Amino acid sequence: MDISFRKAVLTLSAFTFISFNIGCSKDEEVAAPAQEFVAADADIANYSTWTKTAENLEGPDPAGLIGAAHEANNMDVRRTVFLNKPNNKSNGKWANGTILVKEMRHKDGRLLAAMGMVKRGASFNTTHNGWEWFIVKDGKIADRAAGLMDGMCNGCHSSSKDTYDYVFTKR
Ligand code: HEC
Repeated sequence: MDISFRKAVLTLSAFTFISFNIGCSKDEEVAAPAQEFVAADADIANYSTWTKTAENLEGPDPAGLIGAAHEANNMDVRRTVFLNKPNNKSNGKWANGTILVKEMRHKDGRLLAAMGMVKRGASFNTTHNGWEWFIVKDGKIADRAAGLMDGMCNGCHSSSKDTYDYVFTKR
């Protein structure tokens, strides 16, 4: 092996070594993609102990967005919202695993209905920031989908898409 060839091989392997290391450290800097969070009944079991983002709302919301949704046109109904992880956000987006449950109660205290939204993330409902919508019955997730109520949950909540990532009663 002549000297210049050896030099070339050494330079090349040194180069490969350096670029390999740069490649590695770059990989370490890139955060692992956030895992999809698929909510189970156990994840909402104690929602009534969570932080409240709104309590006993009555009648139409101040922005007038709600219309007849969530029984807002029924003055006998009070709406309360529970959040499992306050401030669970990065870059203005709620992190996967964030859950909000909203209860509608008659003013006499009877539970009329409950529903929720969970940041499922990954490849789920990507056009609407990864939210999954669900109905709560007897404390359990009874019905769930990206396009629940023919997409009406996505549609109405998307008016707060750019401000609070689909959540109206933020925290
Ligand atoms: C016509 C508009 C509209 C539609 C449709 C709608 N929502 Fe909402 N939602 C609101 C508004 C406004 C609030 C804020 C709280 C309040 O005023 O009751 C809210 C609050 C919530 C909250 C509490 C978190 C938050 O954003 O503050 C949940 C959970 C929720 N809605 C779930 C649903 C689900 C599930 C559906 C579909 C089955 C749905 N919503 C359909 C307007 C809507």
